[in-house]
Amino acid sequence: MTGVICGTGACVPDRILDNNEIAQFVDTSDQWIQERTGVIRRRIAQTETTASMAAEAGRQALEEAGIRPEEIDMILAATATPDHIFPCAACEIQERLQAVNAVCFDLNAACSGFLFAYQTAQAYITSGMYRTILVVGSESLSRIVNWEDRGTCILFGDGSGAAVLRAKEGRNWIPAAHSDGKGGPALLCPGPNVSGNGGNLPGSDSAEDSGLERTGITMDGKAVFQFAVRKVPEVIREVLDANGLSADDIDWFILHQANRRIVESVAKRLKTDIERFPMNLQEYGNTSSASIPILLNEMNRKGLLKKGQKLVMAGFGAGLSWGAAVLEWGI
Ligand code: COA
Repeated sequence: MTGVICGTGACVPDRILDNNEIAQFVDTSDQWIQERTGVIRRRIAQTETTASMAAEAGRQALEEAGIRPEEIDMILAATATPDHIFPCAACEIQERLQAVNAVCFDLNAACSGFLFAYQTAQAYITSGMYRTILVVGSESLSRIVNWEDRGTCILFGDGSGAAVLRAKEGRNWIPAAHSDGKGGPALLCPGPNVSGNGGNLPGSDSAEDSGLERTGITMDGKAVFQFAVRKVPEVIREVLDANGLSADDIDWFILHQANRRIVESVAKRLKTDIERFPMNLQEYGNTSSASIPILLNEMNRKGLLKKGQKLVMAGFGAGLSWGAAVLEWGI
């Protein structure tokens, strides 16, 4: 028994923010951003929320799969930007979809989030515990970006993507995934204040400056770049070897959409034609856990994915974390 994707969906905010508009509030240019990252524009959530976009992406995925909301056993939401600390985004998505029989929780592995949630869903399905799982990646990164930091604010965007997995007879592909907490400071966003010893109790030092710190995302761009171009080809080779495949057996490599230069470098290191590495980061920027399912949905809806084709999905990002999965397209 394996989990086969039988429907996809995506939802991005209406508001488009292009590089020229960013150049009006930080010292940068369209040319610099395009040359270094490949990004031209991104979407910014205004009325949309992490849960509202995810629910719309999920609705589309269920519609394509012909699955009623009450048939979903589990909703797994990969997000680093839930609308609330609790309840989790997955519960809000459940309510919006009326997926009343689903157990719901969130998973935060930053830009590896969708990949890790997909692997988690596979584990539940192959164990026989659940049959039908909605996996979403959804982010409102614009809310945690430091819009005064030109080194990071140019990179990110908001959006959501979803895939619904159903238990079917088929091969169980061996996954690959890794984490390295030592690399945490390279890409970081502070949460509620954890400094001081007082637990924010009234009268304690930490109570004086409690609340969310406002530094937003901080990043050592060069370190993250080097991590990605080294570890992503490595983990793709690992997952191919584990499953007795070579890069030539793979029709599409669906990589997390962080940066065009990273994708190009991975293709080169794998000695694989760049045409098999689709990209849409020029339109959306880095949407973290949403980037893989948004791209998957785009390719699916354009009819580029054919039943029986083999795909590799690879995610990487804060943690540090990285992983890859092989799948056979089933729609
Ligand atoms: N516009 C213009 N200049 C900028 C700029 C911007 N938006 N951001 C940085 N610069 C400047 C720097 O200040 C620096 O100037 P200096 O030489 O006078 O100090 C110069 O450009 C080079 O900066 P550097 O950080 O070395 O650039 P880079 O070539 O490493 O590119 C990134 C920066 C962020 C594009 C690149 O490091 C990168 O893509 N890293 C990976 C990020 C990523 O994908 N993160 C998410 C992973 S999930």
